[in-house]
Amino acid sequence: MSKATIIDGKAVAARVTDSVAEATQAFVSETGITPCLAVVIVGEDPASAVYVRNKGRMAEKVGFRSLRQTLPADTPETDLIALIQEWNADPSINAILVQLPLPDHIDDSKIIELIAPEKDVDGFHPVNVGRLGAGRFGNALIPCTPAGCVLLAKSALGDDLTGLNVVIVGRSNIVGKPAAQLFLKEHCTVTIAHSRTKDLAAVIGGADIIVAAVGRPKMIEGSWLKQGATVIDVGINRIPAPEKGEGKTRLVGDVDFDAASDIAGAITPVPGGVGPMTIAMLMANTLTATRRQHGLADIAIAPK
Ligand code: GUN
Repeated sequence: MSKATIIDGKAVAARVTDSVAEATQAFVSETGITPCLAVVIVGEDPASAVYVRNKGRMAEKVGFRSLRQTLPADTPETDLIALIQEWNADPSINAILVQLPLPDHIDDSKIIELIAPEKDVDGFHPVNVGRLGAGRFGNALIPCTPAGCVLLAKSALGDDLTGLNVVIVGRSNIVGKPAAQLFLKEHCTVTIAHSRTKDLAAVIGGADIIVAAVGRPKMIEGSWLKQGATVIDVGINRIPAPEKGEGKTRLVGDVDFDAASDIAGAITPVPGGVGPMTIAMLMANTLTATRRQHGLADIAIAPK
């Protein structure tokens, strides 16, 4: 059996961040302005804390100013609202990210809708969701993970995805739905499958590209894939790994990687696939947002 090409998400992400760093240097020398990304995290979820730290580190690495605010888990909603309003009004802050999930007593949607759309580098505000849906890419900010999925697919298949069948498994606002819009933009034929889809195996069997974003470990079996398909696995699931010792765990995707890599043409690993792309695309969005706020046209940041 031929083994699939492993898509190196770290390498593709590094090309994006190198490109952002170069474009940032040019922007700073042209304008004297340093882009600033502000991130707020509420509570102590360890995984979220790692993501937020990595976002801050990468922001500094590409030449941005990075602002991080960690609020206690019992922070009143009104305090978070006040912080967002302060950041919205501060012209030296170009990009705002509220790490999700928020504690139960805070209404995620209410907070997201408060972020100024032009600073919403997650692309979660309804204005950005609407612009993406309407195909207004010139002023939308695009969610980072799905944007990264498209770049990874292109790294395996080349720039032209026209006519390919894409099956997205998962219909979340963060990944599944925006990924569908982005692959449509690439002239793909897009299917969104989900937990109620009938005969998921048959649907996946018709896919040239599978984007798996359900959050269920190894749910997608290798035997379901069409020979040579490209697999983009967004899942990050922690499962017990007794083979590594008692109480140890490891990360796996939504796709059964070992079985899938016998059939797929190309596949992203977990970790090291989609994960690094999310942060890289956040850096690209931060520069794009900053440039727009200063009346500058979008530039191509993504690598070939
Ligand atoms: N939590 C998990 N993924 C994300 C993301 O892409 N953005 C934010 N803000 N929080 C997240």
